[in-house]
Amino acid sequence: MAAPKTLAARIKLANGETIPQIQLGLYMMSGREATTSVRWALEAGYRGFDCAQVYHNEREAGRAIRGFLDDKNANKDGLKREDVFYTTKLASNSTSYEEVRRSIRGSVEVSGLGYVDLFLLHSPYGGREARLTSWRAVEDAIAEGQVRMGGVSNFGVRHVEELMGSGPRIGPVVNQIEVHPFNTQAGIRETCARFGIVVEAYAPLARGMRMRHPVVVGLAGKYACSPAQLLVRWSLQHNFVTLPKTSRKERLDENADVGGFEISAEDMVKMDRLDENLVTDWDPTDAP
Ligand SMILES: NC(=O)c1ccc[n+]([C@@H]2O[C@H](COP(=O)([O-])OP(=O)(O)OC[C@H]3O[C@@H](n4cnc5c(N)ncnc54)[C@H](OP(=O)(O)O)[C@@H]3O)[C@@H](O)[C@H]2O)c1
Repeated sequence: MAAPKTLAARIKLANGETIPQIQLGLYMMSGREATTSVRWALEAGYRGFDCAQVYHNEREAGRAIRGFLDDKNANKDGLKREDVFYTTKLASNSTSYEEVRRSIRGSVEVSGLGYVDLFLLHSPYGGREARLTSWRAVEDAIAEGQVRMGGVSNFGVRHVEELMGSGPRIGPVVNQIEVHPFNTQAGIRETCARFGIVVEAYAPLARGMRMRHPVVVGLAGKYACSPAQLLVRWSLQHNFVTLPKTSRKERLDENADVGGFEISAEDMVKMDRLDENLVTDWDPTDAP
């Protein structure tokens, strides 16, 4: 089966670079699952992977990417390292600049990929000084080529304003937050837009918690798609980078095969109105 065209879609970032719009999330995958899922995903046409130090599968994710690139039989298009976009995230912000630099270097080394495309502060926890010190370490890792670009995750309005107001040498290109129709995050999205920061939508499938919601089921019927496809499509039409996670091979195609229909403006509003501030995992966006 040909790779869904949506997997080739990329979004332009404030630094002029582009990023694959649909990427595979690797949260809650064992090392073994990450190994197989990353491989299947590359075969299916995925070109972006969202990892993190706390997922404990950076080694396996990196090895699976390298294994695919080096395998001439599987890598039919002759993809190179630069054709795959790899993100990982700092486990904890720190007031020790050296500690963060070490941690970033550790992620680069363990992946075996030579560099990380996008390195994120995973959360705003730790307070102002830790956030700004950690960001400075990311800026320097970019300057030294260990990381291509930097971003933040779970940053609330106040955290984004704090970082942008601190006069960063390099701005964050993304803020990765929980976004789906059941938690639309209007305030954070508006703030990110003001600073040219792209929103990356995590838990775009609401972690499977609302697949049977009558509006989701009704619209999936109308557009002849699955509930998961409806949710991914909603994410794309809002111009988010979206990170649906699955460790099942058949769902990799399903979740990305969303180019054959468009949700009408009216139905987008209907979906936006499902907002109930649903938090599927954690919500650090109000951290002091
Ligand atoms: N920065 C952060 O703090 C943060 C927090 C959470 C997530 N994330 C990132 O965002 C990614 C996605 O979030 P998430 O993993 O929490 O949730 P998600 O992608 O919204 O949902 C994943 C769940 O949906 C199921 N699923 C996948 N495809 C499906 C389909 N077609 N039909 C029915 N069920 C389906 C998966 O099960 P199967 O695996 O069995 O298919 C899994 O249980 C993560 O992997 C991670 O990369 C970041």
